[in-house]
Amino acid sequence: MSVAVETKALTPPDIAARKGRDRIVCLTAYTTPLARLADRHCDVVLVGDSVGMVLHGLPSTLSVTLDMMIMHGKAVRRGLDRALMVVDMPFASYEEGPEQAFRNAARLMAQTGCAAVKLEGGESMAETIRFLTAHGIPVMAHVGLTPQSVNVFGGYKVQGRDGDADRILRDAVAVAEAGAFSVVLEKVTEPLARRITAEVTIPTIGIGASAACDGQILVVDDMLGMFTGFRPKFVKRYAELGSEADAAIAAYAADVRDGRFPATEHVFDDAPKAGDVA
Ligand code: KIV
Repeated sequence: MSVAVETKALTPPDIAARKGRDRIVCLTAYTTPLARLADRHCDVVLVGDSVGMVLHGLPSTLSVTLDMMIMHGKAVRRGLDRALMVVDMPFASYEEGPEQAFRNAARLMAQTGCAAVKLEGGESMAETIRFLTAHGIPVMAHVGLTPQSVNVFGGYKVQGRDGDADRILRDAVAVAEAGAFSVVLEKVTEPLARRITAEVTIPTIGIGASAACDGQILVVDDMLGMFTGFRPKFVKRYAELGSEADAAIAAYAADVRDGRFPATEHVFDDAPKAGDVA
């Protein structure tokens, strides 16, 4: 079923107001062409720090920099008319305290044109979230599995199974009370996602957190099947672009090696022919 989408640009209060009403569709994007496609169908486009792993081949998000987020943020901005644009604050750009977070979030907003930032952490980030929102910076929070803390967790494990469900619930409540307009729940069990969604006043956006959440987000390259080997349980692949690209590149290589490409229709003559395009 296709749903008619609003045409005005969405704001953080618009997203917050969806709580318990319409489901919120979110997707990451890192480039202008994919931002344009996402903008046609999604409510929120996140320039996630997953860009480091997805586009730059980094082993984790820990070495993603503010400059990388700004470069990809600018590219995404050019592709958006309607969706709310959120940019991730990379590791070490906000953890020292509210002033550092404000300085870097303001730079992200000024240089990319995003309307909100996302940062990872629960109770420990509440003071920073309160400061940012009080000073004009809307915040999407992120609790549960927070990939920037992968070394503390000891891997990308499901959260909420080892007696830590109450702590994660407290984290979600703390960021909501601090003024976040929404909260990403990453890789938490369905019962915990259900509890958090029922308890907090802001929309929960799930990734690996079940349909109990108010909205969903996926990494665009995952759902498009850009990676052949990588198949996390929580990702539904809506396409297999990685295999298609592989087959296309193999066909191109064979055509070049066998002299089938370029063919007559790809070649310029001294005088233009009827129907020639650039
Ligand atoms: O960096 C990212 O893409 C994210 C989403 C997976 C929520 O944080």
